[in-house]
Amino acid sequence: MNKPDKLSGISSEVLSEIYDIRARLKRADFLYYVKDQPDISDADYDSMMRRLQELEAQYPQSISPDSPTQRVGIAPQSEFAEFEHRAPMLSLANAFAEEELRAFDDRCRRTLLLEPDESPQYVCEPKFDGLAVSLTYIDGMLSAGATRGDGYRGENITQNLRTVRSIPLDLKQNVKDIPSLIEVRGEIILTHDEFERINSERETTGEPTFANPRNAAAGSVRQLDARITASRRLTLFAYAVGACEGLEFANQYEVLCTLGDWGFKVNPDVRVCDSIDEVVGYVGEWGEKKDNLSYDVDGMVVKVNSFDLQTRLGFVARSPRWAIAYKFPSQQVRTQVNDIEVNVGRTGALTPVAILEPVLVGGVTVSRATLHNEDEIRRKDVRIGDTVVVQRAGEVIPEVVEVVKAERKGSEVEFVMPDHCPVCGADVVRESGEAVARCTGIACPAQIRETILHFASRAAMDIDGVGPALIDQLLNRQLIRDPADIYSLTVEDIEPLDRMARKSAEKAVNAITASKKVTLDRLIYALGIRHVGERTGAALAQRFGTLDALKAASVEEISKVPDVGPAVAASVAAFFSQPGNIDVIEKLRTAGIDPKVEARQESAIFAGKTIVFTGALQKMTRDQAQGMVFRLGGNPSSSVSGRTDLVLAGEKAGSKLDKAKSLGVPVVSEDEFLEMVSRAEDES
Ligand code: IVH
Repeated sequence: MNKPDKLSGISSEVLSEIYDIRARLKRADFLYYVKDQPDISDADYDSMMRRLQELEAQYPQSISPDSPTQRVGIAPQSEFAEFEHRAPMLSLANAFAEEELRAFDDRCRRTLLLEPDESPQYVCEPKFDGLAVSLTYIDGMLSAGATRGDGYRGENITQNLRTVRSIPLDLKQNVKDIPSLIEVRGEIILTHDEFERINSERETTGEPTFANPRNAAAGSVRQLDARITASRRLTLFAYAVGACEGLEFANQYEVLCTLGDWGFKVNPDVRVCDSIDEVVGYVGEWGEKKDNLSYDVDGMVVKVNSFDLQTRLGFVARSPRWAIAYKFPSQQVRTQVNDIEVNVGRTGALTPVAILEPVLVGGVTVSRATLHNEDEIRRKDVRIGDTVVVQRAGEVIPEVVEVVKAERKGSEVEFVMPDHCPVCGADVVRESGEAVARCTGIACPAQIRETILHFASRAAMDIDGVGPALIDQLLNRQLIRDPADIYSLTVEDIEPLDRMARKSAEKAVNAITASKKVTLDRLIYALGIRHVGERTGAALAQRFGTLDALKAASVEEISKVPDVGPAVAASVAAFFSQPGNIDVIEKLRTAGIDPKVEARQESAIFAGKTIVFTGALQKMTRDQAQGMVFRLGGNPSSSVSGRTDLVLAGEKAGSKLDKAKSLGVPVVSEDEFLEMVSRAEDES
């Protein structure tokens, strides 16, 4: 472990506690992320991490780059620097059939002048379908991480790769000598579970989903903000060594074992084969096995094991003569598109889905395939009645690869995106620049759960005790169908539900009643209008004063509100043009909810002041913070200048904080800011 030189001012007890916690966290990371065998609970892990963070905050001179606290949390970058690989990252020639594998073996044996009964040993490694990266360790410490790029130069993505928990920050000692310098090569991948988690999260937030785990992994690795990479839970499998000083390996199998010993995750399905027949047999076994893995593999890499033999075989162009990638046949089958349906997702996104004549693709019956969006359908020109090629290339969701145009009869029907939601009938809009079409109905059953959860949430109507568990039951029993129905609930409705009792039911009803006193800005936010966050809610409330006035406003009027762009204005206007939405607003009014604007407190503490936020906030979202500033008379702004009155600096604040300091602008912490706000709110 790295022991920094200057540790003055730290007692040996504290220091040994720091080292001890680091070692325990590293072991826990290794067991969890590399071995898939966690040995401590998340809570224990978190409390050790917090303790280490405390100690390091108190004794910053103890922080070393291999500390588990140093995996995340550097300010976003504006671009990646170039990174030159010491040894090039090569690519592999492909083989698509058994004969090509045998031809590869023939070439190897001929070049090596082997006797007909002699064979090199081969190492077979299932081929990960992710993206290749190189990790440089100097004296056992991770010093850089880079993408492959053109094989010679890639991008320096060290900050992002540090967040990948299966990448050791330092190599485990005492297993084998640590080389003074080594480039470890491996593949960054996403497991299927993680891929699905990310996509469903993106669906919720209205972002476009990734087509497959490889695209998602590639997109995650090349994020300028390492915190986003960290949230994606990538995995690294190590499989090769580039430049290496101070250590020699005899063969590929030894490399894999050593990488494993140093703490890397290595392919669990490697097989050493003594002949090409064995290789062909192993590849055959994998045709089916590959579909049972929790990540994508798209072939089998076959490498000559001995490094002596590898050297004798050498290279052609940019691929080694000693290795080949056998690609599993992608499972493609023809079938017919019987219909194109439209699914409405939780955020109202409309996704066209091809309804197929059921076919077996790689052992699985496929009867639906996603068509992603309208543009995809146009690009592939898929029509109802078409014969299409469907593929499951190890991927989770089958997709339509192409249309067999030769099979067209002329009776095929082009798909038209409906202009009304197939679930609730509200208008469908597709904003310019967006691939996704969406339903605008607040009471759309496809979206209702999310809409109501948002409506009741703390920053919106703040209905305490009405959370997901209760809302699900209310929806299932059809006690509510839209957000306004919450206001007709009685204790008698709620009490008989699961995990409810008289007391909790009364509490919920009281919270519901209390929420009627909501302010207009929150109510506007609570409606869940696309693009309308807390800050926009506040700006609209301030400008229009009542929901009726907002409802009557034109797109032009709305877009005159400070910070409200044309897309937001169009979205607000679209929302209020839906009769279903107006019904809900009427029901809310009948329930007694019709706030007038909470006059912006022109004399409040932030009156006329410009306030900038920087760094990561822990206790509130940026939207919430900006809303507070706005309500207390101030103007949130995004850049520091001579006219800035105050800067709120969160964690890891970067250049804005430096600039504020150099301009002498007062800076407060998140806690100080909240203190100011609560004092001001008490006074008003
Ligand atoms: S070895 C010269 N081993 O396949 C050898 N590559 O076309 C270089 N890949 O860029 C790579 N699994 O992204 C090797 N077990 C494995 C692999 C593997 C996947 C990828 C890697 C590389 C590409 C080569």
